[in-house]
Amino acid sequence: MKKKILAIAAITGVVFYACQRQVSSPADAPDSVTSQANTAESAADAKAAQVCFEGEVLPIFQSSCAKSGCHDAASHKEGLVLDSYNHIVRGEGIVPGNARASELFQQIINGKMPPAGNPKLTNTQVVTIRKWINQGAKNTSNCLTCDTSIYTYTGAVSVILGGHCVSCHTGINGGGGVDLSTYTGVRTVALNGRLVGAVTHAAGYSPMPQGAPMLSDCNITQIEKWVAAGAANN
Ligand code: HEC
Repeated sequence: MKKKILAIAAITGVVFYACQRQVSSPADAPDSVTSQANTAESAADAKAAQVCFEGEVLPIFQSSCAKSGCHDAASHKEGLVLDSYNHIVRGEGIVPGNARASELFQQIINGKMPPAGNPKLTNTQVVTIRKWINQGAKNTSNCLTCDTSIYTYTGAVSVILGGHCVSCHTGINGGGGVDLSTYTGVRTVALNGRLVGAVTHAAGYSPMPQGAPMLSDCNITQIEKWVAAGAANN
């Protein structure tokens, strides 16, 4: 019975939230059991390796949320622009140090964002956002070490594509039919030249990531080196 009431309350809350875009109130706070679990999770996240906002978190928002028709500067659905640190922390209920109490994070884990019809964030992306909030939602930049001497598929390429590209390129319906969520899919565009053409903004290719800043020089070099070395599954 209690569960049912909670479920109704939750649904009403979501509907109300969706219509009103109210900022989280204390009434939304999770019950004590959940909050204990949250505390343990927040504490563990706070001690984990620091997430780099600029290098790891911003690209997720830029590629998954700051898209045309959603939360880019031109569309700003529901007044929300998710294209820069200031916009992300100002525009949405982020509670530094408590991801589970942050509306933005709740919207992601309850499946409301990105909305139906758009690729979901990957588990890794969700955990990255959770850790970033639990670590204080800081505007850390120039913190992601990038080393052009590392250019394996698992050590570099899949990480870069996972952060900047898979949100639009998963499965056969991925942008342009390009699937960057599997090695086989990446290998195809690596070998036919489209991957390097797109990320270097070469003439004749669609510049990628679409609607977001170009990858860093270091990331582009890592991709180029991996392709030049044969695009192995290494
Ligand atoms: C916001 C969505 C979005 C993001 C993010 C995105 N793409 Fe795309 N991409 C598309 C769409 C849509 C197409 C097909 C239409 C086109 O070519 O413009 C496409 C096409 C491509 C193509 C084919 C280009 C060609 O000219 O043949 C490649 C390769 C590609 N993307 C790679 C990437 C890579 C690599 C990244 C990340 C660095 C990325 N994309 C990020 C939406 C996206």
